[in-house]
Amino acid sequence: MDIEQQLSREFLRVAEEAAIAASRTMGQGDRKYADQCAVEAMRHTMDTLPMRGTVVIGEGERDEAPMLFIGEKVGRGHAEDPEVDIAVDPLEGTNLCATGEPNAIAVLAAANKGGLLHAPDCYMEKIIVGPAAKGAVHLDATPKENLTAIAKRLGRGVKDLVVIVLDRPRHEKLIEDIRSAGARIRLISDGDLSAGIAAAVRRTNVHAVMGIGGAPEGVLAAAAIRCLNGGMQGRLVPTKDGQEERMRAMGITDPKRIFTERDLAPGPEIMFAACGVTDGSFMRGVRFFGHGCRTSALIMSLRDHMIRFVDTVRLDGTPDVVVEF
Ligand code: FBP
Repeated sequence: MDIEQQLSREFLRVAEEAAIAASRTMGQGDRKYADQCAVEAMRHTMDTLPMRGTVVIGEGERDEAPMLFIGEKVGRGHAEDPEVDIAVDPLEGTNLCATGEPNAIAVLAAANKGGLLHAPDCYMEKIIVGPAAKGAVHLDATPKENLTAIAKRLGRGVKDLVVIVLDRPRHEKLIEDIRSAGARIRLISDGDLSAGIAAAVRRTNVHAVMGIGGAPEGVLAAAAIRCLNGGMQGRLVPTKDGQEERMRAMGITDPKRIFTERDLAPGPEIMFAACGVTDGSFMRGVRFFGHGCRTSALIMSLRDHMIRFVDTVRLDGTPDVVVEF
């Protein structure tokens, strides 16, 4: 069974519908409502797909998320439909959407059963690099050691590197270490998933992502990184009571384990779909033009070695609508 061939167009549509719904709320200052719109659109579209899907990375646990919670069944669920594990982040960058800032995206990844790590909704310490620096970095190395290794693989000086770091008080020391090693930093307010994708793609002028962000975003990043041949390490960081127990219940026996992109997204079949909500480094946000809208999306398949950037115009059916190039 090849879920990539059967479902790639459908997953693209799921990301697009979530992005369109979220982008209608852009700049309205209500991040929860923006997220809710994306979740509803994603759930609704996903339920039409020919699959027996299980959400393994979602909006949280059943008791705190009304929809797309971990363990929830999605898809039309006919007996002949393939079993698929799904990771979703219907609106990655809820604040970015609420304030109309760049890099809010709608995202999902899918794999054959067992193909994505089941992780609780906690934090994850991450380092993400592109194909050239794959295998050269380690979470237990110092930022200076990692930057020197990345620079060497890229054939340039550390001063030529740009690292994306989430602008959080917990990163004070990391930021200081990166600066004193001589690299440059792009501090971002949110959205370390799209930052991770940028680090794995040439000519984005991003060479690494470092620091602690969400674990769900980490698993989704790993799915993208595998499709892009990049490198990643992640270590779960439980900060709340019960999270370590939850990790064990999900089969993670060593809470300090360092996961590579292959451990986080081990499936032989992986698909990753994202659609821009607001303008970003490699996708534009949704644009409405009165009689339809235009979306900019990305769909990647690991087994097919395919990365497609998809620019779609949707018309509302009114006669004589003019499509611009
Ligand atoms: P949301 O879209 O859920 O708001 O997450 C945005 C984000 O910035 C992620 O990109 C990142 O991994 C995480 O939040 C960081 O968490 P925190 O804001 O708690 O530092």
